[in-house]
Amino acid sequence: MSDDIGARRLLVRDLAQLATPAGTDAPLRGRALGEVDVLVDAYILCEDGRIAGAGPMRELGAALAAGHAEIAEFDGRGLCAVPGLVDCHTHACFAGDRVAEFELRSTGATYEELHAAGGGILATVEATRAAGEDGLAEALRRHRAWMRCAGTTTFEAKSGYGLDRETELASLRAIRDEGGAPTWLGAHAVPPEFDNADEYLDFALTDVLPEATLVADAADVFVEEGAFGVDQARRYLEACRNAGLSLRLHGDQFTEFGAIPLAIELGARSVDHLEATGEDGVGALASSDVAAVLLPASALYLDRPMPPGRALIDAGAVVALATDFNPGSAFCESLPLVSSLAVTQLRLTPTEVLSACTVNAAHVLGRAGEIGRIAPGYAADLVLLDAPDWRYLSYHLGGPVVATVIEAGEVTWPSPGAAYEPAGRR
Ligand code: NIG
Ligand code: FE
Repeated sequence: MSDDIGARRLLVRDLAQLATPAGTDAPLRGRALGEVDVLVDAYILCEDGRIAGAGPMRELGAALAAGHAEIAEFDGRGLCAVPGLVDCHTHACFAGDRVAEFELRSTGATYEELHAAGGGILATVEATRAAGEDGLAEALRRHRAWMRCAGTTTFEAKSGYGLDRETELASLRAIRDEGGAPTWLGAHAVPPEFDNADEYLDFALTDVLPEATLVADAADVFVEEGAFGVDQARRYLEACRNAGLSLRLHGDQFTEFGAIPLAIELGARSVDHLEATGEDGVGALASSDVAAVLLPASALYLDRPMPPGRALIDAGAVVALATDFNPGSAFCESLPLVSSLAVTQLRLTPTEVLSACTVNAAHVLGRAGEIGRIAPGYAADLVLLDAPDWRYLSYHLGGPVVATVIEAGEVTWPSPGAAYEPAGRR
């Protein structure tokens, strides 16, 4: 507590602005999604990994008088603080790349054609199986470092590129060991050694689920023509729910294939993608507690229609944003870039975007009580933006907007000795 001798304290002072989703509710819907508190000339006091206080600099004296421990100071002049970003949908645990497919797509091949020809997800399955547990952990570490540079302080990552017992479990362990929230995407595709989806699911539920559930927080399934149908998804998800996992679905990415009604029927945490969702799907989600996780980088990367972000918010749905970072449909780990796309393509406001990739993303991971806000008691996870206004988070399209990342009250990026100096401070 504040008067513990030896408590680790970090004072971030003289911030140009501090912006955080208002209140303490989660998830946020409708008008509440856009309510952000902004303080100018602000401080944030971190103590033992948590936020002990935040407010205007003129009130700093009183906050400091409450504690006696030694304090490290961070000069926040020219910077704006927002909560550490939460990426609630990634496939960061993969080996290899698909750069050759990327070039093929540039000359006309579609993502679905490449998938049907044994490329796509199955090409990454081959590379991921071949990497071995250490190689896979090493690849994930690299990807996690990229995410951190872009301001992600909490990440979810899915398995789904192993699709055999050993590699699925190695993926989940690697994600957990890197501090991520592991999701078992045991139903991502049917691997080549099985003749059909039902036989593969028999194997996955019998041989992988019992151990996957010891490591994973959630289960996920790709509901789509050519992947898993609604009845198969129901069988998989019900078994996962009975084993204690919360439920996620990849749904309506290319076609409306029944994922939304299934997600609602099963009380899933989220249904993610929704590029093909029409009015009925929007209405159904709005009157449910299932979060809509939108992945505009994936829609952009595959040149698909954008998901109906504005309509979902206006109808009252719980909306979160994420990268979908993966080697095929969204080779993009940047939530700031996703934020820009959400404003320019989904017609969200910068304030809605901030809540969608902090509080609501934390809700999708079941952690909204501890991360996603700058308020006393929350984890001291912060992004300091190299900007005079916090809205540069979405305004600066693809720019180096992240100056410093703080996790649990410690600076984690740039690492000591890194050469980068925020432009506003030169
Ligand atoms: O969310 N659609 C299913 N899975 C991923 C893509 C995976 C891949 O192409 O490797 C997605 O877009
Ligand atoms: Fe995905």
